[in-house]
Amino acid sequence: MTAHNSLSKKHQAWSGLFSEPVSVITQRFTASIDFDQRLWREDIQGSLAHAKMLCIQNVISAQDLLDIERGMAQITKEIESGQFEFSLAHEDIHLNIEKRLTELVGEAGKRLHTGRSRNDQVALDVRLYTRRAVDELRASVVELQKALLMQAKQNVHTILPGFTHLQVAQPVSFEHHCLAYVEMLMRDAERLIDARKRVDTLPLGAAALAGTTFPIDRDHVAKSLGFARIAENSLDAVSDRDFVIEVVSACATIMMHLSRLSEELVLWMNPRFAFVRLPDRFTTGSSIMPQKKNPDVAELIRGKTGRVYGHLMGLLTLMKGQALAYNKDNQEDKEPLFDTVDTVTGSLRIMAEMLAGLQTVPANMRAAAMEGYATATDLADYLVRKGMAFREAHEVVALAVKAAQEAQKDLSALSLKELQTFSGLIGEDVFACLSLEGSLAARDHFGGTAPRQVEAAIARAYARLSAG
Ligand code: ARG
Repeated sequence: MTAHNSLSKKHQAWSGLFSEPVSVITQRFTASIDFDQRLWREDIQGSLAHAKMLCIQNVISAQDLLDIERGMAQITKEIESGQFEFSLAHEDIHLNIEKRLTELVGEAGKRLHTGRSRNDQVALDVRLYTRRAVDELRASVVELQKALLMQAKQNVHTILPGFTHLQVAQPVSFEHHCLAYVEMLMRDAERLIDARKRVDTLPLGAAALAGTTFPIDRDHVAKSLGFARIAENSLDAVSDRDFVIEVVSACATIMMHLSRLSEELVLWMNPRFAFVRLPDRFTTGSSIMPQKKNPDVAELIRGKTGRVYGHLMGLLTLMKGQALAYNKDNQEDKEPLFDTVDTVTGSLRIMAEMLAGLQTVPANMRAAAMEGYATATDLADYLVRKGMAFREAHEVVALAVKAAQEAQKDLSALSLKELQTFSGLIGEDVFACLSLEGSLAARDHFGGTAPRQVEAAIARAYARLSAG
């Protein structure tokens, strides 16, 4: 919603101190209403808590409080129904609401700002917004984890080549692969929870920068807004935005993880891999090439990661040159914050839905795992168990792989006799560890890809999710 352009109508000087109104171009340049209007709920919530406290402290009357509450209820209705006229002439959400309140209830509206400044007011609104956003982000992270766990459970027996350097390395189960992302997201959720602790601080009471001369009760306001802590220092309370930076940083890390997953989906969708099928509702066609099915959603998530990194860098840079305390620079904190929250929430949600509909093609995964000598390490480990030193075993197997490559066969397709030409230690029991299943089952320790270990890991992951 673009603010109503009622510049000429309400174009008046800031106060009696000013000999002329700000120019139209300045007004446009400095206004934030076009983007901070989405803080309206937080702004009203904070104002109501402030007014209640002022009344208890006998700074405003009970009648003032009633008037303010009535006015705010009306404004809430107006905004919800789209009737409210956001005006550029009133610069930001705080002044827009205050002006309308005064129109509606008169004198009491003018008293609301007692003992407060827009500096602590905006810091409060941004904290309230960020706290709620973090909770929503966490919920979306959990939804994605659940989608990954569902995929894991459906793919207990699906084996694919694990890669290093994007070259076939060792076989792993698809469930183990899914659980790797569940772990990344566990840490992402922890980072959000940790950042939330520092978001959860009440700045109100700092007023412009030095505190206020009125007998305010900050404990009361903190309690009514559910803040765990009260900002210790008024200068810090109005000026720092490190809590925004922390949350955006946690978001940038989430995007980095989503981007890696996206990159894998793009690869797996490529017909050379053909490891997965994405539901058509998450793919798009080409306007010129009729055969194409493109993984646009995954590509866009990968692309949007750059934009979130940009916001993080922008915010860090925004803060670095600011002398204490509040500076108008801080108005620039909102767009990157809002866009980060929207982008990350949107990406998490669509990724969860897409994964819920993802179909694996186990035969293709298996064929790929059979192609790259994925069990070569298993043969080396076998020789070590028979008494050979690992470095020597490594060389023996390298020669075996070379021979198998020349014969265009997998190691497991070589005969016992052929294998024995590389080492007399090799016996009939070698074939058990040359199979993909044997390779997985052998990695039977905490964190390994053996099916029974991965099943235990799934159970632990569910337990950790429900423990919150
Ligand atoms: N729109 C401002 C912001 O977003 C609100 C605070 C302005 N305070 C001031 N003294 N100019 O930061």
